[in-house]
This record gives sequence, structure tokens and C-alpha cells, in this order.
Amino acid sequence: MTTHFYTATSLDGFIATREHSLDWLLKQDFDESGPMAYPGFIEGIGALAMGATTYEWVMRHEDGAWGYPQPTWVFTHRDLDVPEGSDVRLTRADVRDVHAAMTAAADGKDLWIVGGGDLAGQFADAGLLDEVWLQYAPVTLGDGAPVLPRSLDLELVAVARNRAFMCGRYRVVRPE
Ligand SMILES: NC(=O)c1ccc[n+]([C@@H]2O[C@H](COP(=O)([O-])OP(=O)(O)OC[C@H]3O[C@@H](n4cnc5c(N)ncnc54)[C@H](OP(=O)(O)O)[C@@H]3O)[C@@H](O)[C@H]2O)c1
Repeated sequence: MTTHFYTATSLDGFIATREHSLDWLLKQDFDESGPMAYPGFIEGIGALAMGATTYEWVMRHEDGAWGYPQPTWVFTHRDLDVPEGSDVRLTRADVRDVHAAMTAAADGKDLWIVGGGDLAGQFADAGLLDEVWLQYAPVTLGDGAPVLPRSLDLELVAVARNRAFMCGRYRVVRPE
């Protein structure tokens, strides 16, 4: 079982603008059946975790139709609305406890930390992040939500081009 942080990023390391816009990303050309694309990735995922801002972005952009059948933990200190029929679990528990619950629910499949970057960092701090997959969009933003605001060593294990994107898959190197 592997815990992944899979996300698109600007060349200068931001996953959203300061105003939480993804317009710079959604306008890019990407082949959904190409290398390191989302459909192949999500097939192997049994449980998800995301922060409240990411959850609110997804909710705003899906018109109330929740797109993830997998159990999803949303980290928040607030009592956010949860879409009917979804398996969304609001939590403020320790990432270690949530990771254990995700592993139990994932039925042998992998885990996806959707974002933001600090939440992925919280899992890394606990030694629970195994892989980082980055799709680099050909833009710079200058400012915004950072991709992974931690000091980590990573090993590049795969690289590909998917139309406009340069894609890298990295293994998190844990300290000895
Ligand atoms: N480029 C991409 O592919 C991509 C991927 C994912 C996300 N994004 C975007 O990136 C941005 C990320 O936003 P963000 O940096 O604000 O990160 P975020 O992780 O989405 O949200 C941060 C919020 O999550 C809650 N949170 C985080 N850790 C917590 C913990 N341990 N316990 C309880 N609550 C916790 C807090 O919410 P409260 O305390 O307010 O409840 C915190 O303010 C969003 O705009 C998102 O749409 C882009």
C-alpha cells in the first residue's frame, strides 16, 4: 500500500493562485489516456484525504455532484456540508489516526492525498508519504498555494511528457 500526493503544479511550485483559482491549469492540454494521467492513477486508489480549501473548490466546481466513490477524509475545523450519498468524513484527528483508518478502508488499494501542499506535508512529517507525482504546467504564477512546503529529499523514479505537461513521479527518501 502506497500513499501518494498526486497534483499539478506551476513551474514555480504553486498548485493554486492566491485566490484559489485553477484557471491556469484547466486551460492546459492534457491527454486523459496518456502517461501519468488521472484515470489510470485513480483506478488504484482506495481512499482519499484533502484539506478544507481543496474540498470547497471541488464542491464549487462539481455542482453538488460528488465524483469520488472512495471514502474521503476532509480535514477541517468546521462543520462543512457533505453531499448526500457521498462517503465524505470530516476530521480534525491526527494524520496518523486518519492514515490508519484510510488504510483499513482502502481494501488493499493505495491512498491519495489530494492536497493542499501543507496537508501532504503533514503526512510527510509523520513519515507516511511515499510518493509525489507532479504534472508541471507551462506557467509561472509568482505566488499562491505552495506545492509542498517542506524540506524533503525525493528520488525521481519516472518521467514523461503528457502534451503540455512535464510529469515526474518521485519517491520520498526517508532519513536513515
Ligand atoms: N493543482 C492541483 O492539482 C491542486 C490539487 C489540490 C488542491 N489544489 C488547490 O490548492 C489549494 C490548496 O489550498 P490550501 O493551501 O488552503 O490547502 P487545503 O489543504 O486544501 O486546505 C487547508 C485547510 O484545511 C484544513 N486543515 C488542514 N490541515 C488540518 C488538520 N490537521 N486538522 C484540521 N483541519 C486541517 C484547515 O481548514 P479549516 O481550519 O478552515 O477548516 C485549513 O485551512 C486549493 O485552492 C485547491 O483547490 C490544487
